[in-house]
Amino acid sequence: MKKQFLDLGRQPIANGFLNKNDFANEYFFNLKVGFDDETKLVSLMDFVEPTKMFNDEYVYYSSLSKTMREHFLSAAETFKTKLFPQSVLEIGSNDGVFIENFSPDNTCAVEPCGNFADITNKKGYHTYPQFWNLETAEEIVERHGPQDLIFSANCMCHIQDLNEAFTAVKKTLSFDGCFVFEDPSLLQMITRGSYDQIYDEHAHIFSVLALKNLLNNVGLEIFKVEKLDVHGGSNRIYAKHMDTMKLRGIKPAASVQMSLDAEREYGLHKYETYVKFADRVEKSKNDLLSLLQSLKAENKKIVSYGATSKSTTVFNYCGIDNTLIDYIVDTTADKQNKFSPGVHIPVVAPTEFDNTVDCAFLGAWNYKKEILNKEKRFVERGGVFITHVPAVGTY
Ligand code: TMP
Repeated sequence: MKKQFLDLGRQPIANGFLNKNDFANEYFFNLKVGFDDETKLVSLMDFVEPTKMFNDEYVYYSSLSKTMREHFLSAAETFKTKLFPQSVLEIGSNDGVFIENFSPDNTCAVEPCGNFADITNKKGYHTYPQFWNLETAEEIVERHGPQDLIFSANCMCHIQDLNEAFTAVKKTLSFDGCFVFEDPSLLQMITRGSYDQIYDEHAHIFSVLALKNLLNNVGLEIFKVEKLDVHGGSNRIYAKHMDTMKLRGIKPAASVQMSLDAEREYGLHKYETYVKFADRVEKSKNDLLSLLQSLKAENKKIVSYGATSKSTTVFNYCGIDNTLIDYIVDTTADKQNKFSPGVHIPVVAPTEFDNTVDCAFLGAWNYKKEILNKEKRFVERGGVFITHVPAVGTY
């Protein structure tokens, strides 16, 4: 049974950037997080209806970041040379940043946000504009046959019914096929104190401990775990049919046991660990508010860098609005000239990151390296970045 350990308060749809005339109808829900002692899975206490988040107005383009483009190119090259897939299915293909590294022949994709499914369909990648479930899996097997590589990035953790999602994978995977998926790591979130990984879309934050239980329940086995830097620390999980592993004598790589041991050592199998994390989250909120208020008292102009879903959680949980942060700069055209969800801070183009800015809260802290590289001049002229990960501070 799921037991609550954290309450992040009243929250809006994290990617629901909106116009002024939509303020009155904005949807809010209570963002509470719990731990299931049986499966060891960390999930939201109450899920948000998927069509409220994933629809034709979705605004998050994976390919806008150089870091992510390079990440997916390198992933595709590795899979081509190590797994030799004859057929590839991507679940949650977004704007095609991964699948486009393969030929459209022998590939297919599933993407519930219609505006994004259109992008890859137009480029010749057969993309089903629907959610990943047993029905979609049946349609794919019927039309394209079993798949050698099923890849999914930052999507499995969005799916509320994991038993159905993993069963659907099991039914679609070819006998020797590989299921590879990557999502934010619970261990990284807990050690870094990055509670902003928690928002409506992230129905679950995965530990390897929980994934092993859930995958085993449907007859899949993890054979490798890779640690990734992206999205604030992720795990890439490689799984196969349990039966295939037995028949072929495939043993899980050492990385599987090492990940499980590291998570147990940190206490991810115990409720008490999460209660301690919740205390740390509250301290982070108080520290961030004090820092922003003291900078404001010195008449500093503070903006936020990156209108991320993560910053939606931080701003709404901490009660940070336009009185502390003048505006948010973001490269995504679909977010610009709109207002941030819940606290309604204006979102503007990066050209507004000009000489008048004294301090910038790093909403996109997971792209710190890329941003610091791009904004050397801001730092050189005395500009200060503010972060809350792993602790509240400036640099
Ligand atoms: P994410 O953390 O969910 O990946 O979202 C990153 C957001 O940050 C996305 O809206 C694009 C924005 N961004 C910038 O505005 N400038 C940048 O240099 C980078 C790397 C991201």
